[in-house]
Amino acid sequence: MSIINVNLGAKSYQIEIVPGILDEAGAKIRSVCAKAQRAAVISDSNVDALYGARLKKALEGSGFAVTRIVFPAGEKSKCLAELAKIYDQLAAAGITRSDLVVALGGGVTGDLGGFAAATFLRGVAYVQVPTSLLAQIDSSVGGKVAVDLPAGKNLVGNFYQPRLVLIDTELLRTLPVRFLHDGLAEAIKYGCIRDKALFEQIAAMRDDEDLLANIGGIVERCCAIKAEIVEHDEFDTGERMVLNFGHTIGHAVEKCCGYTTYTHGEAVGIGMALLTRQTERLGLTQPGTADAICKVLQKYNLPVEAPYAEADLLAGIGMDKKKSGSSITLIILKEIGSSFLQKTDWQALPDYVKRS
Ligand code: GLY
Repeated sequence: MSIINVNLGAKSYQIEIVPGILDEAGAKIRSVCAKAQRAAVISDSNVDALYGARLKKALEGSGFAVTRIVFPAGEKSKCLAELAKIYDQLAAAGITRSDLVVALGGGVTGDLGGFAAATFLRGVAYVQVPTSLLAQIDSSVGGKVAVDLPAGKNLVGNFYQPRLVLIDTELLRTLPVRFLHDGLAEAIKYGCIRDKALFEQIAAMRDDEDLLANIGGIVERCCAIKAEIVEHDEFDTGERMVLNFGHTIGHAVEKCCGYTTYTHGEAVGIGMALLTRQTERLGLTQPGTADAICKVLQKYNLPVEAPYAEADLLAGIGMDKKKSGSSITLIILKEIGSSFLQKTDWQALPDYVKRS
């Protein structure tokens, strides 16, 4: 069992990482929401079928009247139309400002359920119960909540911290292996930016069984890194940007494939490999770093390149250009475990996005 504190003054909360904690969720959540009478559990159709009834039972055992709100699985559901349906169901369930929302699922559920909680009745308490590796080590921590617009991902959102994050690593046993590896790409990212020992631990795993046997420690280390970064920069104006290592090119890869061929983690892996190959060439990164990243990504069947022309990747990065004007902040490795932010003119970007 491990508890990580996210220290944000009045908005502080704990991340509890315990195998099997799903069945204790009622008591855990009651301890941070003493007065709530009702709980709305938001999850997608896949996760609700696997774990919705168990969480409902755990919550009812601690006196919550529970409503399960289920939306169709998939990124397409992270939209305003689905959000409107969730608001209707929260209203129909009689959720008041003293009640709570529980987001049970992966990144889409955390973002969509968290945004619903942030805005319904001008904000009701919410708890994250992440079920994918990606959500357990990244998206459930730090309070970023959002929905997508046709113009791009996460374009409507907020920073809204949960009351509690409950991580049951046993739930990863039902995660399809492709999505275990998808999340692992983000764990490799944490190793790259902050923790060489974590990177080496992931590189040294024998196979997926070994990985799952050791996943608790990996999740704990990633959450501790993320908590520390979020404590320093809750609103993503400086240090927190380091979490975007591999994401600038990764987001472009996702756009180029129409969010189909590559998962988020796969695209981030490609972004980390491609960028580091170039920053090595530019003398910013210790030689051999890109090869080390590619080796560990490939060990988990994660791609290290994508078949898109430099011009297409640059066009895909265009949305970030609009956000930040004439320059973009790139996250660059000095070596494995050490990273820095570099403001880069848009004109210089092609140097960092070459494919060879
Ligand atoms: N997923 C990056 C962040 O939370 O800032």
